Amino acid sequence: MTQAPDSSNATLSQDELKAMVGRAALQFVVPGEIVGVGSGSTVNKFIDVLASMKDQIKGAVSSSVASTQRLQALGIAVFDSNVVERLSVYIDGADEIDHQGNMIKGGGAALTREKIVAAQSARFVCIVDESKLVPTLGKFPLPVEVIPMAVQRITRQFAALGGSASVRLADGRPLVTDNGQFILDVAGLQIGDPLAFESEVSQWPGVVTVGVFAFQKAQVCLLATPAGVRTMNFAGVPNTQRDV
Ligand code: A5P
Repeated sequence: MTQAPDSSNATLSQDELKAMVGRAALQFVVPGEIVGVGSGSTVNKFIDVLASMKDQIKGAVSSSVASTQRLQALGIAVFDSNVVERLSVYIDGADEIDHQGNMIKGGGAALTREKIVAAQSARFVCIVDESKLVPTLGKFPLPVEVIPMAVQRITRQFAALGGSASVRLADGRPLVTDNGQFILDVAGLQIGDPLAFESEVSQWPGVVTVGVFAFQKAQVCLLATPAGVRTMNFAGVPNTQRDV
């Protein structure tokens, strides 16, 4: 289903597409409840319009320090995930999404908290522009949050799978996540079986979180295109690691 945009959109920028899909996500926010909020530039657009509903919701559970600060600056209460048992909906972006709703996430280094909030949410609504839709995950270098002392060992394990891992840097030094760990970005992977891949890599010693979201895949993807927002439903395949 494609929801038509307001006017001719042949020249919409990526930023405008993100704003369009951020607005479209408002339809999934449940009045009276707490909403799960992800991280990234697309989610920032969603947060900005969520402010228009702030008197209709209890607040949000956030997946990053950056999103928490943005929500609070707009007057939206942010709850600790430990005090909220269940969320009806989690709204977040992705770096890639395939046609079954599996995703690569972590381009903003927030993947661990994103996976935690997704796991406590009944429904993951992924908001992306059409450049993120792929037949097979892996063109985007896979983010993996790791314990620093395991960097070399995990790098060798990815090399055995054909992947080339490098430590993400910020200002010339290893980027340190909100959780005090490092990020490896792994290029050269073709992830044909996301569930098996996530299952295997998650067990490697020193891996905190792998950026494949197959156990917590999307139920819905809102895909921004120049012709409007297309809704893709993946409800047929259940998630196997959700709390609710
Ligand atoms: C944050 O860690 C990521 O998982 C984001 O959801 C992802 O990188 C998409 O970000 P953009 O909306 O900025 O493209």
